[in-house]
Amino acid sequence: MLRLDRTAFGVAWKAPAEHEALWLIPEVAFARWACIPAAGEAELLRIAVDPAHRGGGLGRRLLEACQDELARRGLETLYLEVRVSNAAAIRLYGACGWRRCGLRSGYYPDGEDAALFRHVCP
Ligand SMILES: CC(C)(COP(=O)(O)OP(=O)(O)OC[C@H]1O[C@@H](n2cnc3c(N)ncnc32)[C@H](O)[C@@H]1OP(=O)(O)O)[C@@H](O)C(=O)NCCC(=O)NCCS
Repeated sequence: MLRLDRTAFGVAWKAPAEHEALWLIPEVAFARWACIPAAGEAELLRIAVDPAHRGGGLGRRLLEACQDELARRGLETLYLEVRVSNAAAIRLYGACGWRRCGLRSGYYPDGEDAALFRHVCP
């Protein structure tokens, strides 16, 4: 996961904390979530597919599997933020039922805006 994290985002985060949930296909893909069960919410912190495996439907299957499992665990609303320039991720989220719900202006260290998305579990 740390290698993929570095490849996709340039810097690897620390190992997941206790309140986090992680889906991992070793060496190929991962999705990392922060869960707030008391609020019925979870936030997608990161999702990445190894560059050699992108474009084959893996990101979509991984995200849908996470959404299904989080819904089974009783979480009702999922959130994420993404760079407004990240067209691939934004299309993926739209295809998986996420809807844009806000904007954080100048959110990233380089000044780029973050788009906020929400998914309501069925
Ligand atoms: C975003 C990411 C996870 C998508 O994974 P993937 O396995 O390539 O995605 P999939 O093949 O499942 O594609 C699912 C949908 O995403 C969209 N998509 C994927 N790659 C795309 C691209 N290069 N351009 C535009 N849309 C794209 C499409 O809508 C696609 O559905 P379609 O094939 O039916 O049109 C992957 O590109 C990645 O790891 N990017 C770097 C990390 C990142 O930016 N993560 C998101 C921010 S946390």
